[in-house]
Amino acid sequence: MASTAARPSVNGIVPQKDLESFQFHLAKSTRIIALLGAGVSASSGLPTFRGAGGMWRTHEATDLATPEAFAADPGLVWQFYNYRRHMALNVKPNPAHYALAELARKKQGFITLSQNVDGLSPRAGHPSQSLKLLHGSLFDVKCSDFFCKYTQIDNYTDPIVPALTIPTTADGDEVDPTSKAILASKDLDISDVNVKIPEIDTAHLPSCPSCKGLLRPGVVWFGERLPGDVMSDIETWLDESETIDLIMVIGTSAKVYPAAGYVDMAREKGARVAVINMDKKDVPASGVYSQDWFFEGDAAKIVPELFKNEIGEITEMPDAADSR
Ligand code: APR
Repeated sequence: MASTAARPSVNGIVPQKDLESFQFHLAKSTRIIALLGAGVSASSGLPTFRGAGGMWRTHEATDLATPEAFAADPGLVWQFYNYRRHMALNVKPNPAHYALAELARKKQGFITLSQNVDGLSPRAGHPSQSLKLLHGSLFDVKCSDFFCKYTQIDNYTDPIVPALTIPTTADGDEVDPTSKAILASKDLDISDVNVKIPEIDTAHLPSCPSCKGLLRPGVVWFGERLPGDVMSDIETWLDESETIDLIMVIGTSAKVYPAAGYVDMAREKGARVAVINMDKKDVPASGVYSQDWFFEGDAAKIVPELFKNEIGEITEMPDAADSR
């Protein structure tokens, strides 16, 4: 493993020697995968799933991401997802999203497999043909009835229905709705269990215009299959060649399969692995080999630095959401 201990670093971000060997390899690579996780969006201000920030009220965020949780309490699960949509719409893509998007424009054989549902890579202009959203999108909505195929793509309505409006005042607060204070009031942090949230009648949740059943978020929940069209695009890309030169594992704990399985799949085709993570312990299950790299720190700082020779400096960060 390319050690990061006590080496001179570039801008205090990554050790010079590792940076150079990575950039040398990237320059000659023609088949490249980036596997992205929540850590890529962390410096935009979105929480990750595991470790600190992984709780939503009294629930592990991952416990709310199941068909069982939705069946048991669709109101609670919708409050969680409506909150995540709201949070995602209120932050901006960061330099890592832009650097990945720019590399996709510069390198033909580069595919990004993202576990993120927050819409930040598309908003950074990542070319859609080389961005595969393994876990769907917070901004797609579909019918929860298996037999009804109703789907809505790119639904940015916030709140998605009025009943899911994030409260700005605590229950029981007497407020004058015309006062300056209420007009300037901020959303309450409903991820905090001390903030009361209303019980929501199922009748007021998003409903399917086709079958009148309940709509659900268009994300992949634990126990569900990954989207068939996305999987077949990835298979086609994998089948195009016997070799893969590089897989970058960026801001993911690489614990959730099948996504995490792409690391070993790439290794089997000869890929060297570059891990970019805040936490030294978060390496893929197969570890980090002697020819691999581990870059410790914030993906938003490290990724643009790693790609600099290919893409130059990131100077502009247009957000597609601004032109919606
Ligand atoms: N830069 C780089 N890495 C970071 C940063 C940062 N600024 N902040 C956090 N990280 C790392 C953490 O150390 C952790 O390894 O990002 C990783 C986030 O891991 P998880 O919270 O497990 O998120 P992710 O890997 O995306 O989870 C995969 O699990 O819950 C499901 O469907 C959900 O897509 C998600 C999947």
